Amino acid sequence: MHSSTIASVALFVASTLAYPTPTGSSVADIAGGSAPNGTPPKNISAAAIADFQGVNFLENMEAAFFEQGLENLTAWNHHGELDAAIEVVTRVHAQELIHVQTAKNILNHFQKPTFEPCQYQFPVTNAEEFLDLANIITSAGIGAVINVASSLALTDPSLVQGPASILSSEARHDAFFRIAALDIVPNPTPFDTRISAAYALNLASPFIVPGSCAAMPKFPTIPPLAQIKPRYHQHGTTGTDVPIQFAVDAQALHRAGALFIGWVNQANVVNYTPAKMVGTGVVETVIPEGLGGMAFAALTNTQTATDVNTLTGLTLAGPAPVQIS
Ligand SMILES: *[C@@H]1O[C@H](CO)[C@@H](O)[C@H](O)[C@H]1NC(C)=O
Ligand SMILES: *[C@@H]1O[C@H](CO)[C@@H](O)[C@H](O)[C@H]1NC(C)=O
Repeated sequence: MHSSTIASVALFVASTLAYPTPTGSSVADIAGGSAPNGTPPKNISAAAIADFQGVNFLENMEAAFFEQGLENLTAWNHHGELDAAIEVVTRVHAQELIHVQTAKNILNHFQKPTFEPCQYQFPVTNAEEFLDLANIITSAGIGAVINVASSLALTDPSLVQGPASILSSEARHDAFFRIAALDIVPNPTPFDTRISAAYALNLASPFIVPGSCAAMPKFPTIPPLAQIKPRYHQHGTTGTDVPIQFAVDAQALHRAGALFIGWVNQANVVNYTPAKMVGTGVVETVIPEGLGGMAFAALTNTQTATDVNTLTGLTLAGPAPVQIS
């Protein structure tokens, strides 16, 4: 679809949304439903506890992001141009709170520790930046929940349904953000991209005010990798087969040898491209053919890992979200 067509779809959505939020309604009313009310299984694996703690921790951040965003959008909405975004984000916020509750209910049932929200800082000064970051945060969240569902399928099959149902709900959020923020198609690819819990937590880290969490899940800290060229925030797409540069702390490359970017995308094995230093703390590579949607790039010095969880242990810096299409 051409981007002007998408713009008119967005306008159409804006002019036809007709679900005003009733004042005084509960979170479940606004969200459109409550946390699952079935009986949890008799037992739960240690891996599943870590998975739901990760979901609890990350969804706390998402809920806070959308709560702040909703306040901001309301303040920034001078001529009704943000009405549609406010309608949608009102529900997104409530739905994230229900997702937090879903994870907490399971953890409480098994008398396992839960996480309370931290303080957060988001690099957002206007509606465009908010919607743009909403797309990145939601894509990373979807990637983490794909990992949770895949892992639960092996250890705790009876717990898969909750995260599986969360995935399609979050994908609907992201479809809106893609149109509203970037004016790009809501459905770029047949698959979304799985990321590891450690990747998700490292991507969340910059948004957490240091020292503000009463407790945090344990995770390995990986030095950051930041896309610098082509710039992400351009209302455009990066495409494939084009040069791309990332900023990285030069310390992370100390005696690294040959460098590669491992590309994590859709349900495929990791795709590697050779990377070279082109300046202090700047690495360059080419985006390979065949990627789509949101890819995650990791700097590494081996090409052995085929899946994201193995690549995580071999990541020198990253991941960086890269909007391909
Ligand atoms: C639950 O307990 C049963 C019986 O001990 C065991 O076979 C099963 O693997 C356990 N499930 C999980 C998710 O740990
Ligand atoms: C909301 O606006 C404040 C003030 O400009 C800003 O500091 C904060 O990062 C914004 N947060 C979001 C999620 O939009």
